Amino acid sequence: MSKTIEDIKALVEPTRIHRSLYTDPDLFNLEMERIFERTWVYLGHESQVREPGDYLTVNVGRRPVIMVRDKDGNINVLHNQCTHRGAKVAGKTCGNARAFRCCYHGWTFKTDGTLIGVPHKDGYEQTNFDIKDPAFSLKVVRSENYRGFVFANLSEEGPDLKTFLGDAASSIDNMIERSPEGAIEITGGVLRFRHNCNWKLFVDNLNDTMHPMVTHQSVGDACQAYVDELPEGAPKTNEADIISPFGSSYQMFDEMGVSVGPHGHAFTGGEESIHSNYMDIPGYMESMEATYGPEKARQILSINRHNTIYYPSLTIKGAIQSIRIVRPISVNETEIETWTFRLKGAPDEMLHRTMLYSRLINSPSSMVGSDDLEAYVRLQEGLMSGGTEWVDMSRFIGREEHPEGNMTRAIGTSDISLRNQYAAWLDYMTHEKEVA
Ligand code: FES
Repeated sequence: MSKTIEDIKALVEPTRIHRSLYTDPDLFNLEMERIFERTWVYLGHESQVREPGDYLTVNVGRRPVIMVRDKDGNINVLHNQCTHRGAKVAGKTCGNARAFRCCYHGWTFKTDGTLIGVPHKDGYEQTNFDIKDPAFSLKVVRSENYRGFVFANLSEEGPDLKTFLGDAASSIDNMIERSPEGAIEITGGVLRFRHNCNWKLFVDNLNDTMHPMVTHQSVGDACQAYVDELPEGAPKTNEADIISPFGSSYQMFDEMGVSVGPHGHAFTGGEESIHSNYMDIPGYMESMEATYGPEKARQILSINRHNTIYYPSLTIKGAIQSIRIVRPISVNETEIETWTFRLKGAPDEMLHRTMLYSRLINSPSSMVGSDDLEAYVRLQEGLMSGGTEWVDMSRFIGREEHPEGNMTRAIGTSDISLRNQYAAWLDYMTHEKEVA
């Protein structure tokens, strides 16, 4: 059933949203059209396409694209659709190709999209086909690279990527500065985890600081019992370091704070977060000080944000060097990808800790992420059942807030992150024409 602008406006109020935002397939299709296909969506990191011909394929909303490095070293984003009869020309999720040859009739395209080969051309004489006509090249998609993070935007309208990221870009900056060489790279493969829930339930949860002490209570308690049983003077373990903070108090999450900005972006934490009390890794501080000097090194490492959301598609944890990507599949299916970064110049133990974090917290066999998934599935099933029509987001509305740059800072357990996301959602969804 088609939705009018007035229908959509009626679903979002200042302190609550209607449950159909999570359950209505028509709204999901509109979200793909008006959000994911009109704003900046994260594709991948430049280190994933290091060599000429390296490529990866992803969807931007419903549109398949190829992110590929060409022979001149440029990263191009191309619509993954043959201009002959429409087949996807790249069938794998990643690889290396000198050119893309369509599997159906063999039209072949360069890594900048130019059509360079058509078998048995004779039959095209006296037709409109011209191999040199750019209309027969793969369509180039608008893309930008912020310090190695490549985004695409199917719309030609709206701000550039840096403007879109705004002050929230400082979380990417901090992750890069944590490298003694000021450079990071994707290392290892992806943890791809299918969630049977609407994509927004995952995004809602990232800065929901009222759930860890409930949802993760059992693993927090088990971890604390393990720590209590360690002999006096026994060294701490990375596992305990990583899991214990999920059992932190409401007060700790209050004090951690949350910041929200334009376009639905937000981050929790600052100097304090669940990542701020990890053990020192021998040699790391020394290498940071050698690069930046003691004062600057301490300032970089004092920023320990929890989750930063670049709404709607990317979430990063700079303090532990991992990212998660949101890939909506349908109204009640979402793929979440976790990728791991190596800080160039840092001891290998830093990378090992990041990989341990991903396995313990974000993998399908995680002791923490599986708690969240249980909550998402119960939310999805509950919301689909009706009865309670509205989803509350009223906590701390209008209180404990103050401006910080182009963002607003609030007490950590405020629902301000939800209110900010759904204000952005409403803005996107009620523009019938293209917006940022
Ligand atoms: Fe690609 Fe025909 S559909 S060559």
